Amino acid sequence: MSGKKIIPVAAPDLSGNEEKYVVDAIRSSWISSTGSYVNQFEKTFAELCERRTAIGVCNGTVALHLALLALDVRLGDEVLVPSLTYIATANAVRYMGAEPVFVDVDPDTWCIDPKLLEPNITRRTKGIIAVHLYGHPADMDAINHIAGVHGLWVVEDAAEAHFAFYKGRKVGSLAPLSSFSFYGNKIITCGEGGAITLNDPHLELRIRTLRGQGMDPQRRYYFPVTGYNFRLTNVSCAILCAQLERYEQIIARRQKIFDEYHKRLEGIPGIGFQPIADWAQPSPWLFCITVNEKEYGCSRDELMELLKKQGVETRPFFIPLHRLPSFREGSIHRGESLPVTDNLSSHGMNLPTYASITDKDIEYIVEVIRCGRK
Ligand SMILES: Cc1ncc(COP(=O)(O)O)c(C=O)c1O
Repeated sequence: MSGKKIIPVAAPDLSGNEEKYVVDAIRSSWISSTGSYVNQFEKTFAELCERRTAIGVCNGTVALHLALLALDVRLGDEVLVPSLTYIATANAVRYMGAEPVFVDVDPDTWCIDPKLLEPNITRRTKGIIAVHLYGHPADMDAINHIAGVHGLWVVEDAAEAHFAFYKGRKVGSLAPLSSFSFYGNKIITCGEGGAITLNDPHLELRIRTLRGQGMDPQRRYYFPVTGYNFRLTNVSCAILCAQLERYEQIIARRQKIFDEYHKRLEGIPGIGFQPIADWAQPSPWLFCITVNEKEYGCSRDELMELLKKQGVETRPFFIPLHRLPSFREGSIHRGESLPVTDNLSSHGMNLPTYASITDKDIEYIVEVIRCGRK
């Protein structure tokens, strides 16, 4: 093994009370899905998202799946989703026997373009999943307006945008149901975990029932409906409680990393940044750049390869979902054309963003990028 340092693209920040609370959960013997950390996490996270309730679940994919189950999505329904997102957004639609219909993203936000929703609405359309991509909120007022006019539901996929603001309002409070992921590379993490935030008590009862094998929450071992085991453990919530204690600190540290990248990369020909709408306060998830091959001198893929050789891990932007084997045929059949998505997907990449990255590391990464120009 060579001793060369590898700079990862992401790493969790577990430097607070995470270990202490996990040990406490273990010593208490409450390691399954009931316990004081579960209650504390759900209460605190709901408050932070300005919602009446948060429901912890075992991952972000399950949060989306449960949201669609609660909304009674059926076989043959259509759901409008962006194509530039993680596959979970569209997979959850498929779990319901429904079809994701892909809508291009807005070049000014990289999130689903509200102007393109109406042309994609058919008699089968039932709802919209708006994804806050790479920390930037989608234009929720415009999306909710169109949904209201056409009688559609809206789900907010906030997996990548914990604590971002949209026109002064918190992400996670901008649609009737909002989903979160706490996977290891997310801003707040417990390794594997997720949550749904909401206000409606009726939907809450439905989701809590479905999350716990369909058991009536007020009648133990009575199962009136077929449910799932989608619960989150007290041990995971112990980690989440420690993370939430420091959420402002975690965001501030990541913002500093963003500022440092911005300052150092500014002016390198061909390197572009994520746009920020004037109504948005994005959350600093993974720092994004785009590479204009003509101006920069080599392609995004060549730059990623160069960085890899120099010990720097990066991530390409998501491959558009409408181009993946399980969705391609339907997309071609519907005649979908998503030029903004295609363009971003082939030119965008994420740079290492995590609390313990040093200014020296960032300086090094930027130097590799600067010298990579041919
Ligand atoms: C936009 C988006 N939605 C959903 C998910 C699914 O979350 P999980 O990996 O926790 O299942 C992720 C990511 O991981 C994501 O980035």
